[in-house]
Amino acid sequence: MSRSVDLRTLRRRALASATAALMAAGMAAHADAPAMLGKLGRAATPAEVKAWNIDVRADFKGLPPGSGSVARGQEVWEARCENCHGTFGESNEVFFPMVGGTTAADIKSGHVAGLLDPNAPARTTLMKLAQLSTLWDYINRAMPWNQPKSLATDDVYAVTAYILNLGNIVPADFVLSDKNMAEVQGRLPNRNGMTREHGMWDVNGKPDVQGSACMNQCASAVAITSRLPEYARNAHGDIALQNRMIGGVRGAETALPAPSTFVALAARQAPPASGVAPAQSEGLKLAQSHACLACHGIGNKIVGPALLDIHKKYAAQPKADAVRLLIVRIKSGGTGLWGNTPMPAQDHVPDVEVRTLADWIATGKFQ
Ligand code: HEC
Ligand code: HEC
Repeated sequence: MSRSVDLRTLRRRALASATAALMAAGMAAHADAPAMLGKLGRAATPAEVKAWNIDVRADFKGLPPGSGSVARGQEVWEARCENCHGTFGESNEVFFPMVGGTTAADIKSGHVAGLLDPNAPARTTLMKLAQLSTLWDYINRAMPWNQPKSLATDDVYAVTAYILNLGNIVPADFVLSDKNMAEVQGRLPNRNGMTREHGMWDVNGKPDVQGSACMNQCASAVAITSRLPEYARNAHGDIALQNRMIGGVRGAETALPAPSTFVALAARQAPPASGVAPAQSEGLKLAQSHACLACHGIGNKIVGPALLDIHKKYAAQPKADAVRLLIVRIKSGGTGLWGNTPMPAQDHVPDVEVRTLADWIATGKFQ
């Protein structure tokens, strides 16, 4: 399976879970909310709502005050972004190139001519971007990929300024701030390039997302009209253990009544003598809290290799040697051992926790 397929699959999964969350939210809105409130959780406090409310709108409402220079942005980029996106945003390895393909004429017209050129080598981020708020907001909420939301607000401004400078949209001595975002919006090469006048999949087709308001006569109750019959539950063995290239898949647990989590999977690989589910080990807790499991499945490759496969690779050596090597690998990251996707250095993880993780992988009991 190629890495680009992996990323596409990951994106599809993210979209699917976002859709599921929206559906759940929609269902909750239909239900009798006050009646449920007493039974389920509690109302969110204003401070909690504020912490979630980080979106920045196209009219820049929601931008927090702050500023950052291109020069500072270069430092942030080199320390936090370059290993995945390339020194000049040119990397084609982890994601499509971010910069390139835009011209001074595009900045003038607000239409990127290269988008119409069938021979253009790639469609870069700056070629497609129509709203500067999108770039700022995306970096603020999602990047760096391995440590989202770890950038200071001023550094989000700075690194956005640096990307814009790589595309010649702002000069090298520019300082981007909440005060001048709207002004810079007026220089985005593709600011006039967005249209809703065509179909979503077929650009020659009819616009399909411009319905008139339809929020009336909505169904007030949800009825489940079919279920997996009992006799079919286990007709194909334990699906959770079969051919899972793309990580844990949620759904009915066919062989066990337990919920399908990798914890349950690990428990099945090494059933405890007592028959009681084992407590989560320190290693598993750390792998969850440091998001190692976002890239490494226990038994399956995601972006990085399966932890079981890493374990097997080092199983022949004395354990102390394996632990020493794994500590170095985790702390400094690297690339080339399992493919071209880099493992980012995990130098934010305290040494004792790196040791616990290394020991956990070398031991290979993934509970
Ligand atoms: C560990 C690898 C990694 C690091 C480090 C990283 N990124 Fe990313 N970045 C990605 C991946 C993978 C995607 C695509 C994610 C997706 O589509 O779900 C992405 C997407 C993006 C995009 C969206 C591009 C588009 O056209 O949709 C921007 C902008 C971006 N990254 C900026 C940054 C910035 C700025 C930093 C540093 C602060 C950074 N990234 C650090 C891996 C990384
Ligand atoms: C952004 C994705 C990502 C994250 C997060 C991540 N890894 Fe990795 N990891 C990888 C990739 C990709 C490789 C393969 C690198 C290579 O091919 O050399 C790798 C390799 C490794 C290896 C080396 C395997 C070897 O053969 O020596 C170990 C050990 C490891 N990761 C452990 C961890 C631990 C522990 C964490 C969490 C603290 C973690 N990883 C977080 C992507 C990631």
